Amino acid sequence: MVSLQTAQQSNALVANLPRGLVALFIGATSGIGQSALQQFAQHAPAPRIYTVARPPAVAGHESLLAELRQVNPGASYNLITADVSLVSEVDRVVAAVAKSETKVDLLFLSAGFMAFEGRKDTREGLEPSMSTRYYSRQRAVEKLLPLLNSADAPSPRVVTVLAGGLEAPVNERDLDLREPRNWSFWNASVHAATFSTLSLERIARENPRISIVHWFPGTVATPGLARANRFGMSPPNPTSQADAGVRALFLATSDRYAVQPGLVPVPAGLGAAKRSGGGIFLVGATCESSDNERVLAPLRNRGVDKVVWDFTQKIFDACAAQAGGKDEL
Ligand SMILES: NC(=O)c1ccc[n+]([C@@H]2O[C@H](COP(=O)([O-])OP(=O)(O)OC[C@H]3O[C@@H](n4cnc5c(N)ncnc54)[C@H](OP(=O)(O)O)[C@@H]3O)[C@@H](O)[C@H]2O)c1
Repeated sequence: MVSLQTAQQSNALVANLPRGLVALFIGATSGIGQSALQQFAQHAPAPRIYTVARPPAVAGHESLLAELRQVNPGASYNLITADVSLVSEVDRVVAAVAKSETKVDLLFLSAGFMAFEGRKDTREGLEPSMSTRYYSRQRAVEKLLPLLNSADAPSPRVVTVLAGGLEAPVNERDLDLREPRNWSFWNASVHAATFSTLSLERIARENPRISIVHWFPGTVATPGLARANRFGMSPPNPTSQADAGVRALFLATSDRYAVQPGLVPVPAGLGAAKRSGGGIFLVGATCESSDNERVLAPLRNRGVDKVVWDFTQKIFDACAAQAGGKDEL
């Protein structure tokens, strides 16, 4: 277990990193992403920060950014209005970042929710709890690869907050859970988490400089958890949103979760985190590596990772075609 104090001590050293790190946060209008953003803004020297808010959240998020400007006046804050339940909106977000930046050092992904109210598809025909937690996040990573691979740091980083280490068998005959009898809020969650790991592992293999962390943060007292409580899901002993933000910054900046060192050195007494068989960091609530090869190895061996990848690319093609076929990068 990594103590909170160790994570805090490591985070204090983020101040020594080069000026001008570029970070994109998707999902930072609330919860774990918001706390991660606050931590990053507090510690990073003169970072250029991009965040995304859907229209109803813009005003509240602008207030947060105004507070962060006081905390770190040397940072730049750029708010992009977009609804990332739509894959095409992610393309717009990436295009907006690419207009001003030639690199991205950190991509922090935490948008998402559990669809307790049932399946209500977006205009792209995707179920939004799956698109926010998988399709759109995956699209963001794929579209940002040129900028991530151009980062100054030896190892640019992607952190996705979901359920790393908790992957489980999926419905291989109905990947998008189209059949009403196959869909449930829980199955949607399992598909999103398992597909994330399998597809991110492929990204890691093809982009060996990029460090990818799939984090299961445990139970965290966020607005998202408060919503789950209202639907009868009340896991015990949640950790605070603030503490989750401390751990999030540690995962985003410590060399412990890097394929090549170059950011904040691994704290004394801790070794490098172990990677999954497919090459990404699956990390649990206390920032230790999870081993889920029992589930993941058979999926890879049977080529389910490739099936999921190809299926996902077809979904992306359909979304791009519906949006007018514009590929903005
Ligand atoms: N909290 C936990 O205990 C816990 C545990 C394990 C995994 N997770 C996962 O971690 C991620 C972050 O959780 P959290 O508790 O921090 O959640 P949260 O407080 O509800 O924040 C979720 C973020 O996702 C965005 N979002 C939610 N629904 C959306 C939609 N339909 N379209 C576009 N954006 C949407 C929210 O934007 P708005 O501000 O506009 O709503 C917000 O930025 C989620 O994927 C969650 O499943 C959480």
